Amino acid sequence: MARKFFVGGNWKCNGTAEEVKKIVNTLNEAQVPSQDVVEVVVSPPYVFLPLVKSTLRSDFFVAAQNCWVKKGGAFTGEVSAEMLVNLDIPWVILGHSERRAILNESNEFVGDKVAYALSQGLKVIACVGETLEQREAGSTMDVVAAQTKAIADRVSNWSNVVIAYEPVWAIGTGKVASPAQAQEVHDELRKWLAKNVSADVAATTRIIYGGSVNGGNCKELGGQADVDGFLVGGAALKPEFIDIIKAAEVKKSA
Ligand code: PGA
Repeated sequence: MARKFFVGGNWKCNGTAEEVKKIVNTLNEAQVPSQDVVEVVVSPPYVFLPLVKSTLRSDFFVAAQNCWVKKGGAFTGEVSAEMLVNLDIPWVILGHSERRAILNESNEFVGDKVAYALSQGLKVIACVGETLEQREAGSTMDVVAAQTKAIADRVSNWSNVVIAYEPVWAIGTGKVASPAQAQEVHDELRKWLAKNVSADVAATTRIIYGGSVNGGNCKELGGQADVDGFLVGGAALKPEFIDIIKAAEVKKSA
């Protein structure tokens, strides 16, 4: 079964209401490939989710950037999966490296979050990726496998999961992974899924790349056999995000 190209825009902790409206206008006016060719999901900060959801074109979807690990309640400052479902927010990004590193989210905690969000009916963009030190030490695949295992141990149905491979050294640095580097990890990760989960999950789960993706490098990256799309940070706030969405065409003609 073909894996539909997926382009996510992670706006992180950026924007004012005015800026958000501008980005939405740009997206709404853009000519992009049809929904059969590409799935587009943008992720504004929580406070802008209702605004973006109510004004965004209907062929694009929204994601939250995080959610709480279990049912809501006395957890000051958190937002629960139930609340996202209540607002018809279909997607959530979990395990982003900024949260793993700065907020000390462990593999197990991220695995628990993914499992809980899925149990509530959310679709999940689950992020994995190694630091520069880990890459230089030759442990890239061990790190990525351990992060993925913590999810696999807790999840049985993968149909609502997209894995984002985001090498930490490439995030926000302008140092994009080469197409060969990205393909190598995506291929290994798919093999890991085949061996440890199932051949079907390996064949159907989308593995997207993130880390300094821009309008200039997206086509070559997207042309790699096991790169099923992108999670885009900085460039998702700019008009070039449209070019990145259009990179889905490279798979259509492949
Ligand atoms: P970047 O961020 O595109 O700005 O490198 C990607 C991400 O963190 O998802």
